[in-house]
Amino acid sequence: MIPRAGGKAMYDQFGRRIDYLRISVTDKCNLRCTYCMPVEGLEWIDRDEFLTYEEISSVVRQMAEHGLRRIRLTGGEPLVRRDLPDLVRQLSAIPGIEDIALSTNAILLPQFGRDLKEAGVNRVNVSLDTLRRERFRDVARRPERFFDATLEGLAVAERMGFAPLKINTVLMRGLNDDEIEDFAQITRERPWHVRFIELMPTGDNLHLSKRFLSTDSVLQRLQDIGDLLPAAGPVGNGPATYFRFDGAPGTVGVITPLSHNYCDRCNRVRLTADGKLRTCLFGTHEVDLKTPLRATGDIVPAVREALAGKPERHLLQLGTARGSGGLRALSQVGG
Ligand code: 5AD
Ligand code: SF4
Repeated sequence: MIPRAGGKAMYDQFGRRIDYLRISVTDKCNLRCTYCMPVEGLEWIDRDEFLTYEEISSVVRQMAEHGLRRIRLTGGEPLVRRDLPDLVRQLSAIPGIEDIALSTNAILLPQFGRDLKEAGVNRVNVSLDTLRRERFRDVARRPERFFDATLEGLAVAERMGFAPLKINTVLMRGLNDDEIEDFAQITRERPWHVRFIELMPTGDNLHLSKRFLSTDSVLQRLQDIGDLLPAAGPVGNGPATYFRFDGAPGTVGVITPLSHNYCDRCNRVRLTADGKLRTCLFGTHEVDLKTPLRATGDIVPAVREALAGKPERHLLQLGTARGSGGLRALSQVGG
């Protein structure tokens, strides 16, 4: 950490306060969303390489002593890792941790939602790129019954009281852009927060570059169905900018990695399933925590080293994986 006088807090080399850790618990997934994972899968991380739940908890405990406050569990799909509620129980017992959230495709929420809630997950973000059953195969490259499962999972999320409930929708011209209004309409009926996300280029999704759509054009289109006014967002840690239709219970958010860079407010680092601390979603900068964890148990010097090298911003550029640091797919680092 680069400590400052008078407080328990972590700062990076540019003075950004880091209090948020995204933990990828597995790189595997039960879907194959076209922008996120090749249909044949990837070279999976060997399961023996995964940090154990005890090791993840040790990382979080040590970082919490230096100001870590908020956690998100991601994947791949985090619910495909066995006994995830056990990890949540351990994490929620750590002093200083105020918020535990989950990013999921919701398919396994009917099975695990209650346990996760009881274990201490406060809220979930659900990935959903289409509202049309017949389209699910094109978007997530799995049979339509997985779409039904997703909707069941969403219903469970609502019933269990995970709140605020956020929906992540990645924009793809010609694939789901005719559903933008339908997604936005949901926020007039339900207290959900629909976030449109610009497609981020990685090595395996460059064929989708022609489908890129900026969130500015989306906001313009949505003005046709009602006045969207800037709004305070739901609680959370993210880079989204929010809007609300007059009187609507929910909000429309946009996440703009390409059209409007927000790296100056970055508050986060990422832990991969095999124990690397990645200081930016993109780029190659990472520091191994597993080795010190298994040698002495003390990861603080390694975290300090990581934050001293955290890049200022990503260099994403449409049509090339160069700006992503050559990353093949976001499922490898937790999105
Ligand atoms: N571009 C934009 N968002 C992505 N995600 C994964 N890959 C990409 C990408 N290439 C995000 C989506 C999804 C979450 C798990 O990760 O928001 O909902
Ligand atoms: Fe799985 Fe999420 Fe990637 Fe889709 S976006 S393949 S649900 S990890």
